[in-house]
Amino acid sequence: MTRQEQINKAKEHFGKLLERQFDRIDMMKSTKDFIDFKSLDTIVIGVAGGDGIGPYITEQAKRVLEFVLKDEIDRGKIQFNMIDDLTIENRVEHMKAIPDDVLDELKKCHVILKGPTTTPRAGDPWPNIESANVAMRKELDLFANVRPVKVPEEGIDWTFFRENTEGAYALGSDGIHVNEDLAIDFTVATYEGSRRILEAAFDYAKKSGKNKVTVVTKANVIKTTDGQFLDIAREVAKDYPGVEWDDWYIDIMTAKLIDPKRRTDFKVVVLPNLYGDILTDEAAEFQGGVGTAGSANIGKRYAMFEAIHGSAPRMVDEGRAQFADPSSMIRAAAMLLDHIGYNNEALKLQMALDICGQFEKKLVMTGRDTGATSSEFADYILETLSSSDLEDKYNSYIK
Ligand code: IPM
Ligand code: MG
Repeated sequence: MTRQEQINKAKEHFGKLLERQFDRIDMMKSTKDFIDFKSLDTIVIGVAGGDGIGPYITEQAKRVLEFVLKDEIDRGKIQFNMIDDLTIENRVEHMKAIPDDVLDELKKCHVILKGPTTTPRAGDPWPNIESANVAMRKELDLFANVRPVKVPEEGIDWTFFRENTEGAYALGSDGIHVNEDLAIDFTVATYEGSRRILEAAFDYAKKSGKNKVTVVTKANVIKTTDGQFLDIAREVAKDYPGVEWDDWYIDIMTAKLIDPKRRTDFKVVVLPNLYGDILTDEAAEFQGGVGTAGSANIGKRYAMFEAIHGSAPRMVDEGRAQFADPSSMIRAAAMLLDHIGYNNEALKLQMALDICGQFEKKLVMTGRDTGATSSEFADYILETLSSSDLEDKYNSYIK
């Protein structure tokens, strides 16, 4: 191909990408309101175990939900929809991040509890299909990735609002390999997309009484997309006069997160997709690692709750899957409860998780037979949750 032909081919590809983004903007503009769970007769919870250790730990989280929601299930307000085919094998067979029939099943639900799913990367035995979570976030327009990190005894109480459908991820599988010398990826920021995540963060800061938002970008260098994100933050902030806000660049933010004097100042943090991906792994480490963190992916119509770690196929290969820590999925279940309106139940479950995982630690998870099994740990959480002195116990630890 001549140089001119290469340029033309790249332009044509780029044109198609723009068309898809225009469609996405139209879709965002036409979905204004969040679903109202109170008005639903039945809330359908989809349970997709994923693969690797996913089905093992998801089963435990489902048990916890069944326990907490027993009366609601009995009276038909809550219904489960089991979706077993979101596995790497099935996805590879269809050569799709999410096979069509699985996507149809997911769309029949209101909220989804999702176990980890294997994301192939170069060198793996699997073909290079797109990550199932990234695809689900896009397909169901789950634009707010909410990731709380708490270490009460150190005064850490962060809630990250990671933009989840745009940035470097939007076209992560659609870059242009112009020729062997030149590869180009794209970062996408739409007005609508930036505005809705910023609003979600400011809104949460206001409603939760945290009243403080930190906006993180690299707007000094990535001037167009991050620059716009920051401009819109200024605009949104005007609508929330009671919420204090500041802005940081991602590099220094990453450093300040480990500064004990500074880090307790951060409360609600809102940031573009890739920075959010990285910073939330760092943040989760303070709480005991990614295995302990849950993650909510929230859109106006759908929402999906997951662990922030991967599917750990090695644990399955080595016959240790039953020793996988279910805490992350149970945290995800707690966020699901909160999202669909069972706020008090969610709070208690979070307390039980903190007591079992961080304070009392009567059982420990080691990922092998030197520690507890997933189901023993889930039993421990259920016992703690049902004990009459749950709140007193929790308060005695955080003082
Ligand atoms: C996460 C994960 C995913 C992401 C991977 C598995 C594609 O790291 O949820 O943070 O990058 O978003
Ligand atoms: Mg990540």
